[in-house]
This record gives sequence, structure tokens and C-alpha cells, in this order.
Amino acid sequence: MAAIVQGVVALSKGAPVELVDIVVPDPGPGEAVVKVQACGVCHTDLHYREGGINDEFPFLLGHEAAGVVETVGPGVTEIQPGDFVVLNWRAVCGQCRACAKGKPQYCFATHNATQPMTLTDGTPLSPALGIGAFIEKTLVAAGQCTKVDPHAPASAAGLLGCGVMAGFGAAVNTGGISRGESIAVIGCGGVGNAAIAGATLVGASTIIAVDVDDRKLEWARRFGATHTVNSREEDAVEAIRGLTGGFGADVVVDAVGRPETYEQAFYARDLAGTVVLVGVPTPDLQITLPLLEVFGRGGALKSSWYGDCLPSRDFPMLVDLAAQGRFPLAEFVTETIGLGDVEAAFTKMHHGDVLRSVVEL
Ligand SMILES: NC(=O)c1ccc[n+]([C@@H]2O[C@H](COP(=O)([O-])OP(=O)(O)OC[C@H]3O[C@@H](n4cnc5c(N)ncnc54)[C@H](O)[C@@H]3O)[C@@H](O)[C@H]2O)c1
Ligand SMILES: [Zn+2]
Ligand SMILES: [Zn+2]
Repeated sequence: MAAIVQGVVALSKGAPVELVDIVVPDPGPGEAVVKVQACGVCHTDLHYREGGINDEFPFLLGHEAAGVVETVGPGVTEIQPGDFVVLNWRAVCGQCRACAKGKPQYCFATHNATQPMTLTDGTPLSPALGIGAFIEKTLVAAGQCTKVDPHAPASAAGLLGCGVMAGFGAAVNTGGISRGESIAVIGCGGVGNAAIAGATLVGASTIIAVDVDDRKLEWARRFGATHTVNSREEDAVEAIRGLTGGFGADVVVDAVGRPETYEQAFYARDLAGTVVLVGVPTPDLQITLPLLEVFGRGGALKSSWYGDCLPSRDFPMLVDLAAQGRFPLAEFVTETIGLGDVEAAFTKMHHGDVLRSVVEL
């Protein structure tokens, strides 16, 4: 029997989100229904609400979640009811051309639930990143459920489902930051600070946080930034070069995703350095760069989708490191809120008051 539960939906472009009744089907073959315990509010949810990702309204928002498997559909063997899981948006298929090349972190055919969740009038919902977890229970593909240590607090563990994993992986997996190297991170929200925490974990020796908001820079210090730059007050490129012997950083992560921040990242890296774009640009944004500089500076200009993570490899590892006190996962939770508070959380995010508001159910 399908369940009817409350969830947070963006019905039309730019309109405030609403808490509405949603029909969640029983899991079909390869699917699972997960009772959501916690779900973080990511900037990408706001991008969806503003029509910045696509126009497939209505969206069921929320995608940084942890919970307990309630029921599984036919043929599901890798998880069972009662398992504590973090939801992922990279359930690798094992068969596409990326998987076939042994690069499942780029999987081009990731699995999602095949049945839609709907409004009570039957209108199908587009779940954010194929998850949709600002809801009491959600329907996903079984492969989207990654088992982790059930002792982990759900509010923190859920953040691995998107922002923290994306930031950590942008620095460590995509950027390849390593011990003794220098990194600059532009934009120190949940994603950028996770990049900083990741660089700290692997032993980067110069970690430069750049933001336009001093409160974010204070947070960045707590996650391991060795230097901070308020790019409203000083030139980010000059400041980063000044802190790296005049050369620029080995890796620069753009966790904002605007032409001006990308340009800063491009010029603030050392020769043969790496730029990693993890912030998501909106479709209207363009950038022009001198092609000779692109050539002459060498190195790599990379994009990082989901921190090039493999959920089955990376989620349990980060949960375990957090339990050992070596990765400050719980520090990303600024506040816990209710399902009805998501719109207010967007406002707080917009004003820079929070790293992560996390809905607890
Ligand atoms: N690539 C991925 O897989 C992935 C995953 C999750 C989120 N994201 C994206 O990452 C970005 C950051 O997400 P978040 O949740 O951390 O957002 P956030 O709103 O919490 O943080 C953004 C930060 O950027 C700062 N900022 C804004 N403009 C700036 C500028 N011009 N210069 C320097 N700093 C500036 C803000 O002060 C804020 O601290 C978003 O675009 C989000 O969509 C990408
Ligand atoms: Zn694949
Ligand atoms: Zn996200």
C-alpha cells in the first residue's frame, strides 16, 4: 500500500517551498523505502527552487539524508529493513562506458527509483538529485542506500550524502591535494569548509580560506584553514600569491561557481597547478579567458561532481574517521530544524548565518 506523508516541495520557480501531502509508492524491483531521520539543506536545493538547475517543477527537495531502511522491493539483497544508511546520488550502474573503463566515480547511468513519488492529484515529482528527502519516508533505488556505522548521528552522517562529500572530494579526490601542498578554497560554506577539512586531514600545509563573509572565515579556521582572506576587502589573487611565496597555490577550489570566483581560481594557482570547480554555475553564466594563459599555465582545469566519490568506499570511511575524532563531521551541523522550516533555512543560508541547517524527523 502506497503511503501518504508530508514533504517539502518547490511547486513553481522562485515561489517559497511548501509542505504538502505526497504519495510514496511501495518499493518495486530494485527499490527501497527509507524512513528519513535527518536531511541537510544544501545550496543546490535553493538552486532547484530558483529554477537554476532545470524547469522540471514540481521538485521534492532535500538530498543530504540519513535514515533507516523500512522496506525493500523484490530482488534487493544488498540492504534490508533496519539498516542505517546514508542516501547517495551516485548508485553506480557497473555497465556504462565510464564504469566499463574502471572509472565508476564518473558513472553516466546512475540508478534512481523507477516509480515516481507524486502529489495526491497524481502529478509526478522530480526528486532533487534523484533523492527527495525532506519527507518522512522516501523511495529510492536500493543502490542509493549506503550502509554506515549505525552509531553515527544521523544529522551529521546525512551531510555525507552531498555537501560534505562534494567538498572533501573536490580537494582530496579531484584536486589530489596531498601532504605538504598548498590549497586555496574560494567560498567557505558547507562545501568549501569540507574541502578545507579534507585538506587538513591529508596534511596540506598551507590552507587558504577565501570568502566575502568574516563569519565563514572564522568557521574555516576551525576546520583547519591556516590563513583567511576576505575577498571583499583585499584582492584574492594577490593575497593567495602572497601567502604562497608569490607563486599561487598547488590546488584552488572554487566552491562558489561564478565567473569572478573561477577567474580568481584560475590566476591564483601555481604553474602546473589544478583548479577544481565544485560550485554549480547557473545556465546564464559565461567566462572568457586568454587561451595563451590556459596553455602557458599548464596544469589542469577540472570539475568535480560529487567530489568524484564512490559512496560505498567513501561514506563508511568518513563516518569512521569522524567517530575516531579525525574528521569533524558533526561540526558542519549549525542547527537542527523541522520539516516546516526549510524556507527559513534558505534565508539563513542566503544571509550566511549557517553552514548547514539540518531537518530532523
Ligand atoms: N559539485 C557538486 O557535486 C556539488 C555538491 C553540493 C553543492 N554544490 C554547490 O557548491 C556550492 C556551494 O554550496 P554550499 O552549500 O557550500 O553553499 P553556501 O551558500 O553554504 O556557501 C557559499 C559560500 O560562498 C560564499 N561566497 C559567495 N559569493 C562569493 C564570492 N564572490 N567570493 C567568495 N565567496 C563567496 C558565501 O559567503 C558562502 O560562504 C553551490 O553552488 C552548490 O550548488 C556542488
Ligand atoms: Zn555506470
Ligand atoms: Zn547538495
